[in-house]
Amino acid sequence: MSQYFENLNYTLSNEDTRIEYRICREGLSRVFCIGGSGARVLPILAKRPETLDIVDLSQEQLALIELRISAARQLNRDEFLFFLGYRGGIAGDGVGEDHRSTLFDQLELSAATRAFWSDREAAWRPRGFILLGRWEGHFQKLGRVFRDVLRIDSRKIFAAHSLDEQRVLFKEHFKPLVFKAFIKIAASEFVFNRFLYKGHFSGRSETRTESRSPSTFIEEEFTRLFQQTLVRKNYFLQVLFLGEIAHEEALPLECRVDVLDQVKKAKTQIHYRKENLLDVINKDHFEFLSLSDTISYLPNEAAHRLLTDLPSATPPGARAVIRSFLRRPPTYETRGWKRLESEEAWAKALDTTGVYEFDVFEKL
Ligand SMILES: C[S@@+](CC[C@H](N)C(=O)[O-])C[C@H]1O[C@@H](n2cnc3c(N)ncnc32)[C@H](O)[C@@H]1O
Repeated sequence: MSQYFENLNYTLSNEDTRIEYRICREGLSRVFCIGGSGARVLPILAKRPETLDIVDLSQEQLALIELRISAARQLNRDEFLFFLGYRGGIAGDGVGEDHRSTLFDQLELSAATRAFWSDREAAWRPRGFILLGRWEGHFQKLGRVFRDVLRIDSRKIFAAHSLDEQRVLFKEHFKPLVFKAFIKIAASEFVFNRFLYKGHFSGRSETRTESRSPSTFIEEEFTRLFQQTLVRKNYFLQVLFLGEIAHEEALPLECRVDVLDQVKKAKTQIHYRKENLLDVINKDHFEFLSLSDTISYLPNEAAHRLLTDLPSATPPGARAVIRSFLRRPPTYETRGWKRLESEEAWAKALDTTGVYEFDVFEKL
């Protein structure tokens, strides 16, 4: 497994968690969740499982998730939004810096996680946490080129309140040909692989299963999002195009009042596990598995047999949500499992990122 995953790569989330939130049932006994930024973990915690195993190869990601969960549990919503950087600190003007440190001091954290974040206080104090990741940093840079060099100002498009209005503004303010030319370079296999995924890009030609090139794929999927969905509600595109989450309606699920309330009520026992997912899911059994898009990085054989390698004690009704990015296993061994096709189609249509395929399974 790649060294790429041994850093703080993700701090916001490039995954729209409304999908897992709907498919995961309430009050399960044991749930498996790949960590990442933790923004997909929080809404799953809001489903109040008895035990939640949060698994990631990266200790840095786990430190972020512990911080996120403590903040969600112990701060009120306004404080939580400010602390993470959704509100009040994105401009990086220093306002509220001390307040962020005061909130940090109040949180209950393990000694290791407190030390980890104390050492990095200069980085998070001015702007919070959500844009600190390598992935978020990379896309912020691209967004700046898009706005400042290519002079495409999409702010007006994001301000539209209806799809009809948005389509008119898109025609007026977007420059599709400039966008296409820009994406051809910025989302090329070379740039993704070299600068973002450090040689482990799932969309490189040797491993990709998507027929379109990464840049054509992204250009077409983003254009679809602008044509068919209200981008005012899309946090992912706002971070990429505007450099911030400009509209309240776009805040991701972890910011929702009811989600945060349920997180506070959850008595869930949480295990933070720095392990390879295969060493966990093939040993312990779970009623729900949120696998992020890790499948795109697994060896072919392990990906193919993912479901049938799960322990036989996995109970009927258990569900797995599997995303993939440019590399989707062509076949799954599905003996004993059924595909939830309508959930997959619903997920693809809903997903604010536009870049994932979804495989959703239920144990028979
Ligand atoms: C797969 S990444 C999310 C990638 C993101 N959606 C993207 O495409 O850029 C989510 C998390 O999975 C972790 N991860 C990747 N492979 C893993 C594995 N085999 N076992 C455990 N964690 C893994 C990474 O460290 C990362 O924090």
